Amino acid sequence: MKGKFVTFEGCEGVGKSKQIQLLQDYLKKENINYYLTREPGGTPVSEQIRSIILDGKNSSMTDECEAMLYASARVQLLKEVVKPRLESGQLVLCDRYVDSSLAYQGYARGLGVEFINMINDYAIKNFSPDLTLFLNLSPEKAFERKGGVDKHDRLELSGMEFHNRVYQGYLELAKQNPQRIVVIDASGTKEQTHAKIINALKERNII
Ligand code: TYD
Repeated sequence: MKGKFVTFEGCEGVGKSKQIQLLQDYLKKENINYYLTREPGGTPVSEQIRSIILDGKNSSMTDECEAMLYASARVQLLKEVVKPRLESGQLVLCDRYVDSSLAYQGYARGLGVEFINMINDYAIKNFSPDLTLFLNLSPEKAFERKGGVDKHDRLELSGMEFHNRVYQGYLELAKQNPQRIVVIDASGTKEQTHAKIINALKERNII
C-alpha cells in the first residue's frame, strides 16, 4: 500500500479523543494530508452496526454476536474507506481497530484471542496497521484523573474489573507485537503525550 495506516488504542478515559484532536491540529498546521475514521463506524453501514452494538436496549446480545458485529463493521470500513485511501497514498488514522476486539472481547469478555483472531482473520484477511499507538494509562489512574471511582458503587467497581482486564489485554498485545504497537505513556500532561505521539510518528517515518 502506498499510504500508511495508523490506529489508536487505549482504555476508556485515557484521553484518546483529545490526542487525536491535537494530532489533527498538528497535521493541518504542517499541511500533511490525512483521513480520520473510527471504529465501530466510519461508513453508513458500519455506523448503523455501531448503533446496534451500543444500543442499551440490546442487552440480550451475546458476546459472540457483539464480536462478529464489530468484525462486520470493520470489514465494511476496510473495503469502502481504508484500503482505497491507502491505495491512493493517503495517511489513514483510525480511532480503534482489531486490537480493541482482542482486548475488549477477547481478553475482557473472555471469548479468547483465538476466537477473535479467527473471525477477524476471516473478515479482514489479517490486514494490519503499519503502526498502532497504545495510550498507556491504567483504568485506576484514568478514573483518578477524572475525579475518582465511587468505591461504594458495586457497578462501578465491577466496571473497574472489566476495564482492568481490557488494560491487561492491551499490555499483553503490546508485548506480543513490539514491532507494530508503540506504547505511549499517557500519564503526563496532554502536551507531553502529544509530543510523544509526534515523536513516534516521525521515528517510524509516518510523517
Ligand atoms: P466510543 O464511544 O467510540 O468509545 P471510545 O471513545 O472509548 O473509543 O465507543 C466504542 C466502544 O466500543 C468502546 O467502549 C470500545 C468498544 N469496542 C469494542 O469493545 N470492540 C471493538 O472491536 C471496538 C472497535 C470497540
